[in-house]
Amino acid sequence: MNVLIIGSGGREHALAWKILQSPRVDTVFVSPGNAGTYQDAVNVDLDQDDFAAMVRFAEKNAVGLTVVGPEAPLAAGIVDTFEAAGQKVFGPNKTAARLEASKVFCKQILKMAGVPTADYRAFTDPDLAIEMLEERFAGDGERPCHVVVKADGLAAGKGVTVCHTKQDALDAIEAIGRDRVFGEAGAEFIIEERLEGEEASILAITDGKTIVTLPAAQDHKPAGDGDTGPNTGGMGAYSPTPAVSDEDVRWVEENVLVPTIHALKKNGTPFKGVLYAGLMITPTGIKVLEYNVRFGDPECQPLLMRLQSDVVDILEAVADGELDRIEPPQWDPRPACCVVVASQGYPGSYKAGYEIRGLEAADSVEDVKVFHAGTSLGQFDKDRIVTSGGRVVGVTALGNTVAEAKASAYAAVECIEWNGCWCRSDISDKALAKQTIKGGLHSPELPIEDD
Ligand code: AMP
Ligand code: GLY
Repeated sequence: MNVLIIGSGGREHALAWKILQSPRVDTVFVSPGNAGTYQDAVNVDLDQDDFAAMVRFAEKNAVGLTVVGPEAPLAAGIVDTFEAAGQKVFGPNKTAARLEASKVFCKQILKMAGVPTADYRAFTDPDLAIEMLEERFAGDGERPCHVVVKADGLAAGKGVTVCHTKQDALDAIEAIGRDRVFGEAGAEFIIEERLEGEEASILAITDGKTIVTLPAAQDHKPAGDGDTGPNTGGMGAYSPTPAVSDEDVRWVEENVLVPTIHALKKNGTPFKGVLYAGLMITPTGIKVLEYNVRFGDPECQPLLMRLQSDVVDILEAVADGELDRIEPPQWDPRPACCVVVASQGYPGSYKAGYEIRGLEAADSVEDVKVFHAGTSLGQFDKDRIVTSGGRVVGVTALGNTVAEAKASAYAAVECIEWNGCWCRSDISDKALAKQTIKGGLHSPELPIEDD
């Protein structure tokens, strides 16, 4: 059969690459795709807002399964349009996608499900929010204030302000609630308790009745080494992560994912697709920061590098509501590490159109795959690949240890070059630091030198 993937990022290139490994698949179409999916699959230029036109394309081209990558089309109801036309599609429908598209809805479901999360209050009136803040944090703007202000709706990953002072919170309320910098996404907003701890992502695939929990991954959202600087879409990820033990993964499945799926069903908004829990591992236990309703980008890249089973069987079983029929997926025990290489200026403004060199050399490093994200073909020369986005490529490697996966990924990154390219140099170091502490300083195996 043929498969259609919607999206243009590293996640969609990774999905195309993995789906193409299925012996059941003839052609993979990606719309709109990038230069990497052009090389590995078939890019199709479809109007991204015209879901009916996408259905017509699927019908004409013997597409047996459509896989939706990003949140925006899910929140806009792409799955509803495909299902109404009898087309098999992987992803939640519009009402279930509100779990990501509305932070208020997400909090309500978490509460219904009894899942631990930060305490919060929702507001539509900025004056009331400011009043609450003045009551709780009397004093001047410099007063420490441990809250997070979040626009309710989708804001391209920019709608969350983690506050340190009262002034930070007041500024965020003004920007979201009064100046409407995120438009209608800020018509409602929440103020929640700021949690401290280490973050991790646990993704599960579900048809609403059966759940397949994937190995844990860890993203690196801030732009700078050591988690400094502004937040990005994710500068790298690796899996598995020692931030979450196998026992924690089972705990999350039992106490977070399964109750959430039940709550969504009870609420009349049954869920199918990827349920992505963004977690904070706090000293008092694991809490949910947010849900996403799709594969994470870049978490998807290391996860799919490690998946040994046929991904099409899994995705199709979800679309058919028959996930209970398939065998549990098999995983490569080796860790995988993905390093994102970005354009100068990202996550702020950046220039595009720079020729990228060294992609083939990077891809030829053993156990490495370069997933394209913000790349396109040169306007006059299709052999040239140029930058077209902030996050440009995600260089992903497998290794016998996290350290080896990291070393291979960075060895391949060294091959890639364009004007202004940069990346974080410490992807996966949190795992390495934990290993050092566990097996290092106090390890009895270490040779003990006599004075
Ligand atoms: P979200 O879109 O809700 O995941 O928020 C984006 C990022 O903001 C998260 O990955 C965290 O780094 C941070 N964040 C969100 N909520 C909180 C919170 N309650 N406490 C601390 N950090 C948070
Ligand atoms: N990597 C974070 C996200 O996909 O939202």
